Amino acid sequence: MSDRRFYVIGAAGQLGNHLIETADGRPVTALTSADIDLTDESSVWSALAEVRRGDVIVNAAAYTAVDAAESDARTAFAVNADGPRSLAVVANERGARLIHVSTDYVFAQPVRDVAGEPRPYEPTDPTGSPATVYGASKLAGELSVRDADPSVIVVRTSWVFTGRRGSADFVATMARLEAERETLQVVDDQVGSPTYARDLALGLWELADAVDGPSLRDGALLHACNAGSTTWNGLARAVFAELGSDPERVQPCTTDQFPRPAPRPGYSVLSSESWAAAGLTPLRSWRDALHAAMTARSGDDHPLR
Ligand SMILES: NC(=O)c1ccc[n+]([C@@H]2O[C@H](COP(=O)([O-])OP(=O)(O)OC[C@H]3O[C@@H](n4cnc5c(N)ncnc54)[C@H](OP(=O)(O)O)[C@@H]3O)[C@@H](O)[C@H]2O)c1
Repeated sequence: MSDRRFYVIGAAGQLGNHLIETADGRPVTALTSADIDLTDESSVWSALAEVRRGDVIVNAAAYTAVDAAESDARTAFAVNADGPRSLAVVANERGARLIHVSTDYVFAQPVRDVAGEPRPYEPTDPTGSPATVYGASKLAGELSVRDADPSVIVVRTSWVFTGRRGSADFVATMARLEAERETLQVVDDQVGSPTYARDLALGLWELADAVDGPSLRDGALLHACNAGSTTWNGLARAVFAELGSDPERVQPCTTDQFPRPAPRPGYSVLSSESWAAAGLTPLRSWRDALHAAMTARSGDDHPLR
């Protein structure tokens, strides 16, 4: 039996929190921003002082404030690029493995199929120059971790939600607004794959257990999302449906009607074929995952965030 230890960085975030909750008896050290500061190299080394050969570090920490990043590039790059590089250097030096989580925002331009329609991104597709500081900082992070340690596994995901009461994620926000507003407008011209943080966490544990397998031992770049795609409007309507409310209360609008500091991608669906090809269990459909999240929410008397 392996005496592998797991370290979760960003343990208080949406994904990190679910990683801790789904660890299922694995020996895990949970590190929040109170325990490790990715912008401080000495903090990274001291927080990971016990890391040993064969251990696995999962980096779920990031600077995720997409709009704020536009005016705070320095912090975004420090957290999303320099910090992960330090994690990779530690992993490399200790003979441990790093799983680093990244994003659909690294892609700049849709890739089109023969009919000229955007098709889901594969890890092998070129990223180009991301349109946002957040995307650029996450891409820099991907490159820096792989440069420091080629055996790092980078997992891109998209549209992460928990649906939990008290959370500020999209699903939780829509559920709150359902009770507060008669109608609301939600953009219907951005397409992506919503991903339940719990499902991604379970997938990352499967990955963490399998890092020594033939398809993963030399490092990998994978995409992991719940299956299928929708617009933000479609997701909001599905939340209303889950709550037994009329989805018609969610009206469509365009991205142009709500300008924000950081431009949003019109199409950012990630293909999860690479995930399955690595021998990992595909995540269920986003619609089934949303149902599970909303069911968990209805019994959630103790908001965690
Ligand atoms: N949310 C999405 O829709 C989405 C989509 C695609 C990809 N992703 C990626 O998925 C991963 C997890 O995202 P998430 O939604 O779970 O993010 P999240 O909820 O914003 O959590 C990020 C965590 O990182 C921590 N953190 C921030 N700066 C730090 C620092 N300097 N040192 C240590 N920890 C720090 C935060 O701690 P504090 O709260 O204390 O600052 C927070 O707990 C990230 O890599 C993100 O880029 C997310």
